[in-house]
Amino acid sequence: MIEQAPSPASDAQNMPDTVTLLGIETSCDETAASVIRRTGGRTDILSDIILTQFDKHAPYGGIVPEIAARAHVELIDHAVARALGEAGLALSDMDAIAATSGPGLIGGVLVGMMTGKALAMGAGVPFLPINHLEGHALSPRISAECPFPYLLLLVSGGHCQFIHVHGLGQYERLGSTIDDAAGEAFDKTAKLLGLGFPGGPVLEQLAKTGRADALAFPRPLLKRDGLDMSFAGLKTAAARAIEAEPLTEARKADIAASFQQAVADILTEKTRRALAGLDAGAAGKRLVVAGGVAANQTIRAALDGLAEREGAQLFTPPLRHCTDNAVMIAQAGAEHFLAGARGDLGTTARPRWPLDEKSAEADPVYGRGKRGAKA
Ligand code: KG4
Ligand code: ZN
Repeated sequence: MIEQAPSPASDAQNMPDTVTLLGIETSCDETAASVIRRTGGRTDILSDIILTQFDKHAPYGGIVPEIAARAHVELIDHAVARALGEAGLALSDMDAIAATSGPGLIGGVLVGMMTGKALAMGAGVPFLPINHLEGHALSPRISAECPFPYLLLLVSGGHCQFIHVHGLGQYERLGSTIDDAAGEAFDKTAKLLGLGFPGGPVLEQLAKTGRADALAFPRPLLKRDGLDMSFAGLKTAAARAIEAEPLTEARKADIAASFQQAVADILTEKTRRALAGLDAGAAGKRLVVAGGVAANQTIRAALDGLAEREGAQLFTPPLRHCTDNAVMIAQAGAEHFLAGARGDLGTTARPRWPLDEKSAEADPVYGRGKRGAKA
């Protein structure tokens, strides 16, 4: 996490109220670069480039880290040049450069971070190392007025966790998956169903023609107190159903719909508990849902209904900023810069980097496992 520079009251007048900044994201399989300008609590997106490596990984049915790292090397200069070009600005117009420095696939993180450092050194501006998860956490603030504090449900391919966002740099992990991330379970189930990669969107399509109550899949950890989640047992149950004969097209659709419903039920019930535990305060409760799985219409609708019942305000960033992108990295950089951070060229890339380091140290279960939840 970026340490804020001490900002005594006397320095407050000297603090800039606007920043123009380049953000870089390379932690997974998107090579992304963006220029934003943040002024008076408002973000203007001057460019938003996402170069996907989809075609390179599709033949393998999943992301291959070495291929991702090489592709980032090939694409990063192009992504940065396009981001500056579309913004109509030069590197010398940037006040700072922000780049994802973890968590993620280390080869890709290194490419983006070293590019960011080199550009910052060349331009003589601060380099801001950004935690990818913080980018997701702040993503609702790109295009909406979403004041702190709020509850964040981050559901992506690598992460599935509840974070209480108290303020900039103040993140409390309330619960997390103890095995697979929800997106990972979607991807693996889709792969077994013979669907494409990434599996989430294709599985959602197939589920439209199936019956959500056709198979009684488990909802792990729902009977246990707390906000931890588990998807491995559900994934295994789906795998067993897929192995059973005959696997007709209609049965495939039923499996997809029942699986999707189980994930929606788990996320909705755990979110209900998380909201119930929050101190509403004067502003009421705010719920932010981010990450690729938030694109799922069944899950979105379930969370929408929950927010309405609980009287919480629901924020879902636009799809483009729900999945991996560089605008959210630039956003995090801009917020830190405006709060006084002036960066750190000495930072190292981190494959694992929990947002809430204290909780992670106290309960390291989330760091274990074959791939484990990245946080
Ligand atoms: O946030 P994201 O783009 O990347 C990270 O993992 O950080 O999320 C990608 C994940 C993949 O697992 C993908 O299958 C899942 O989000 N996903 C979906 C849908 N769209 C993307 N899962 C379910 N339904 C969808 N419509
Ligand atoms: Zn992500």
